[in-house]
Amino acid sequence: MTDKHPIRILSGIQPSGVLHIGNYFGMMRPAIALQSEGEAFYFIADYHALTSVRDPTTLCENIHRVALDFLACGLDPERGALFRQSDVPQVTELAWILSTVAPMGLLERSHSYKDKLARGVPPSVGLFNYPVLMAADILIYDSDIVPVGKDQKQHIEITRDLAVKMNEAFGQVFKLPEPRIQAATEVVPGIDGQKMSKSYGNNIDIFGDEKETRKRVMSIVTDSTPVEAPKDLSRSTIFQLYSLFGSNNEIVQMREKFQEGGTGYGDFKKQLFEKLWEYFSPMRKRREEILADKSYIDNVLAHGAKRANEVADRVMQRVRAAVGLR
Ligand code: ADP
Ligand code: TRP
Repeated sequence: MTDKHPIRILSGIQPSGVLHIGNYFGMMRPAIALQSEGEAFYFIADYHALTSVRDPTTLCENIHRVALDFLACGLDPERGALFRQSDVPQVTELAWILSTVAPMGLLERSHSYKDKLARGVPPSVGLFNYPVLMAADILIYDSDIVPVGKDQKQHIEITRDLAVKMNEAFGQVFKLPEPRIQAATEVVPGIDGQKMSKSYGNNIDIFGDEKETRKRVMSIVTDSTPVEAPKDLSRSTIFQLYSLFGSNNEIVQMREKFQEGGTGYGDFKKQLFEKLWEYFSPMRKRREEILADKSYIDNVLAHGAKRANEVADRVMQRVRAAVGLR
């Protein structure tokens, strides 16, 4: 049987690049908000990042920066655990065990695998097995809730399928985790109007410098409606992004200005930039404070790894016993 514990919230993020506002609204902010609802386990998915990052120095830097950015955005290491995935190597053992019950067809239907192949990423076994490792990440902590962006929903479904397969084969080994997807921010658009993603190069970074961030905002793609004419709200990336940052009042005001006409897209973009810059200002300040304390991040990660290992060891004992490995 699974252990009794407070609601456990778990999520991971790959250290495969610089974090952008799609990551923030889709995953980081909901994860940070959920910290007050139970015990939060958040990790940096460095094993997963090996499917795309092949330079060790870059990987190390990325890991450190993701930890820094997550902490700067409000993750509270006192309320839960922030750790590196690879500090809990038992997760790869569980991934192996899960892979023995994972149907090939289930993995072959994975959207993210198919998308990556379509983008020309070489089809390694690791890439194919990515969802199995992700299932292990989730199941090894008896997780209850998994806050992620919409694009990760299928991975949580695969996790549940694998948990059911294990339970059918070996008795009640795993509990079934629930995804938590924020409806309002399901997909944050990038500057070209497509889903924001570092792989599409359409990202606005959370901690980009001022000049670069302004440039990115000013280059948001718009239609060619003249200044005087009313503008289409429904397909406007500027308005969608502004809605993430503005107060209700400010959003209503921008909506009216769009509908009235008389304001050009350039002005709307300036307003968006100001809001966005102001929104992340306290987080930039916190980031500087963390950077000034040289050992802070290492201490947080070491403490997180210890906590995560305690839980993972317990669960793995249960799994090994269930399948007949002693
Ligand atoms: P990227 O697409 O830039 O490579 P990742 O795949 O590493 O981003 O995503 C990390 C987390 O951020 C995931 O939970 C994902 O769902 C979320 N996320 C990424 N981009 C967006 C977006 N544009 N809108 C909402 N959530 C997103
Ligand atoms: N695949 C996730 C992403 O790209 C990262 C991740 C790995 C994850 N393991 C996880 C997210 C477990 C939630 C739970 O964003």
